[in-house]
Amino acid sequence: NKHQEIQSSGKGERFSSSGFIFAAIGSAVGLGNMWKFPYITGQYGGAAFFLLFVACLVIVGLPVLLAELAIGRGGRGSASSSFVKLSGKKVWGRLGMVSVIAPFVILSFYAIVAGWTLHYALQAFSGKLVPNTDFTLMYDGFMASYTPILWQVVVLVLIGAIVVKGISGGIEKFNKILIPGMFLLLVVLMIRALTLPGSGAGVSFFLNPDFSKLTPESTLVALGHAFFSLSLGMGTMITYGSYVEKRQSLGTATLAIGTGDLLYALIAGLIIFPTTFSFGINPGQGPGLVFIALPAAFSAMPFGSFFGGLFFILLAIAALTSAVSLLEVPVKYTMERFGWSRTRSVWIIIIGCFIVGVPASMSLGVSPGLTLGGMAFFDWIDFVASNVLLPLGGLIVTIFAGYFYKGVADEAGLTAVWFRVWLFLLRFVAPILVVFVFLHSSGIIKF
Ligand code: PHE
Repeated sequence: NKHQEIQSSGKGERFSSSGFIFAAIGSAVGLGNMWKFPYITGQYGGAAFFLLFVACLVIVGLPVLLAELAIGRGGRGSASSSFVKLSGKKVWGRLGMVSVIAPFVILSFYAIVAGWTLHYALQAFSGKLVPNTDFTLMYDGFMASYTPILWQVVVLVLIGAIVVKGISGGIEKFNKILIPGMFLLLVVLMIRALTLPGSGAGVSFFLNPDFSKLTPESTLVALGHAFFSLSLGMGTMITYGSYVEKRQSLGTATLAIGTGDLLYALIAGLIIFPTTFSFGINPGQGPGLVFIALPAAFSAMPFGSFFGGLFFILLAIAALTSAVSLLEVPVKYTMERFGWSRTRSVWIIIIGCFIVGVPASMSLGVSPGLTLGGMAFFDWIDFVASNVLLPLGGLIVTIFAGYFYKGVADEAGLTAVWFRVWLFLLRFVAPILVVFVFLHSSGIIKF
C-alpha cells in the first residue's frame, strides 16, 4: 500500500539535525529529572550516588540509547515493525509490542502529573502561595476534587494538538522553542536558589558524597533511573530515531542527549535543595517534595509567587516535552499498522489515555477504593510500566542489537574500537544488569 511505499523509499518525515537533538533532550528531560532524580540523590548518598548515576548512564544508558536510535533509523518503522524489518522475523515485532504498550500506559499517568504542574503554576501566579498556608491540606484538597481531571484533559488536548502537526511542524518546532526556554528558566531559578540565605546546606545535602550509602540497592536504583531518565525501553528513542536523517551521527547525538539529560538533572537538584533547606523545610520525597515542600518554600521568599510560578512552568514544560514523545510511539504504530491518518491515530490514543487516566487520577483522591494489587490504581500502572515493562523493553533492545541485528555496525557508525566496546557492553554488561534491575524493581529480589 501507499503508506508502506513511503516508508520503504525513506521519504517519510524527518527531523532536522538540531531539531532531533532538541526533541530527544525534550523526551529525556522530564519529571524524572525534576523531582525523582533530586530526591533519590539526596536519599542514596548525594554526590556518591551522582557519580554512580553517571557511571550507569555511561556504561549502560548511552549504549542502549545508541542501540534504540540505530534500530529506529535502520528500520524506519514503529517500535514494533522496525525490529521485523531489520531481522525478517515476526516474533521480534511481537516482542517490540512491549515498547508500544508501555508508553501508552506511562502517558496515562504522566499526563495527570503534568496537569498538577499546570494547576500549581496557576495557583502560584494568582497569588495562592501565601505564607503560613497548610500546603499538605492544599494538596489533599486538590486531590480530593475533580480539578485534576480537568487539567489532565488540558494536557491531553495540548499534546494531541502538537503531535497532530507531525514531526517537523509539530514535535520539532515545539521542542526547539521550549528546550532553550527551559534552560533559561532553570538558570534563573538556580541563581535565585543559590543566593538564598543558608542555601549551602541544601547544596551539601544534595552533593556531599556519602560513599557508605552506596549499596547494591543504590546501584540498581541508579541504573533503573538511568533507563527512565534517558527514555529507554519505551520505544520513544526507536520512534524518534526513525525520523533521523542518514547523514546525522548517532554517536554524537547519543553523547549530546546524555549530557543534556545530566545537566538538566543537576541544575534541578541545585534548585530544589537550596530552596527547601534555606527555609528549614524537610524536602521529603515524591509528590510531597514538589507539591508540598516547594510551595511552602516559595511562599516564604520575596517574589515567591513569581518564582514559584516559574518553577511550575518549568516542570510543566519538562513534562509536556516528554509526554509528546510518549504519544508519538503508539501514534506511529497505529498509523502504520491500521493505515490510520495521523489525526485519527492521535485522537484515538488520546481518548484511550483519558479512559485509563481518569480512574488512575481518581484513585489518588476522589475514589481511594480504586486499587489493584494492594496499591492505588495510579501507583499500580506506574509500577507495571516503570518497573516491569520498561526493563523488559530495554532487555529486548540490548539482546536484539547485540545479537540479532546484522547491520548494526553500519547504522551506529562508530570507529572500530568504539564499536567493539559498545558491542561488548550491549551483549554482556547491559542485559545482565537490566535483568537485575528488573528482578529488584519488580520486587522479586530484595536487599
Ligand atoms: N525521561 C522522562 C523523565 O525523565 C520520562 C520518560 C520515559 C519519557 C520514557 C518518555 C519515555 O521524566
